[in-house]
Amino acid sequence: MELLQRPRRLRTSPQIRRLVQENSLSANDLVLPVFIKEGTNISNSIPSMPGFMQLSIDRLDSEIAEIASLGVKNIMLFGIPKEKDSVGSISFDENGFMQKAIRYIKTQLPELIIMVDVCLCEYTSHGHCGVIDDNGKDIDNDKSLPIFAKQAVSYAKAGADIVAPSSMMDGVVLEIRRALDKNDFKNTIILSYSSKYSSAMYGPFRHIAEGAPQFGDRTSYQMDFSNSDEAIKEVELDLNQGADIVMVKPAHTYLDVIYKVKDNFPEVPVAAYHTSGEFAMIKAAAEKSLLDEEKAIMEVTTAIKRAGADIIVSYFTKDIIKLLRQHSEVTNTK
Ligand code: PBG
Ligand code: ZN
Repeated sequence: MELLQRPRRLRTSPQIRRLVQENSLSANDLVLPVFIKEGTNISNSIPSMPGFMQLSIDRLDSEIAEIASLGVKNIMLFGIPKEKDSVGSISFDENGFMQKAIRYIKTQLPELIIMVDVCLCEYTSHGHCGVIDDNGKDIDNDKSLPIFAKQAVSYAKAGADIVAPSSMMDGVVLEIRRALDKNDFKNTIILSYSSKYSSAMYGPFRHIAEGAPQFGDRTSYQMDFSNSDEAIKEVELDLNQGADIVMVKPAHTYLDVIYKVKDNFPEVPVAAYHTSGEFAMIKAAAEKSLLDEEKAIMEVTTAIKRAGADIIVSYFTKDIIKLLRQHSEVTNTK
């Protein structure tokens, strides 16, 4: 038989495979989460998040140096306060530890893109993403909104490039956009956690960020994992409220949602959050030698890209940048 089409022809060498490769990873699109702890002289490693630490501002220098030397281009900041209260007061204090951290990192690395999580769960005594209403049980959506606006403005003032509301409260994007504009931060970008699911994949994060709910769960505000049409509705609402970038979270277990969002809104930058639990699954399997960690990292992260994510928040950001570097060194020498 005469075989005119031989797809294997394009797989004969690494060079040819690279020539026809459709998707690839780049440091430009990766975002490294960084955890800031209020206080001094703190660098706590967290066993459930190997390689990640809670760092106080005075202990940030080695992290900043590594970010600079590796060429990490984007970070996402999360804050862990010393003391929590019912409304997360420290989070919107213009001289709070997060605002100081942002200012400090900006002076050290002016070109690094700083994104900041806008939420309440890390800052409130009850650990929910919004304030609790008078009955002590339900999350008061509308009473939470002005707090997010104050957080966002204070972070923008400190020098954040992008604010990232992750509370899943209705109307949070509009509230933040209006407040930013009123305070003359017209160019501060909003990356909204538009379709954030209520997921078991956030376990390790809740250890490192100390943000687990103290009663109940997040099912009344985060999305039901059975749904994906609803993700389109959430994205549409956020875009109408002024979101610049929308995010799907988790990522590895929600590739269909990423695909659907990108398919419906091809003109909008779509981010995906490869969460702590998804990170932990690879780490744990690699530790048991069940799979090759480096290969798994590249495959899974590229799959998230292939599904349609333009931007990936990843705990593997440093590993990926190192691997990309090794690969290019190998291919440029004989
Ligand atoms: C807080 C927040 C969470 C994550 C990012 N921001 C946890 C949660 O909603 O409980 C999860 C990140 C991860 O698991 O890597 N709203
Ligand atoms: Zn939250």
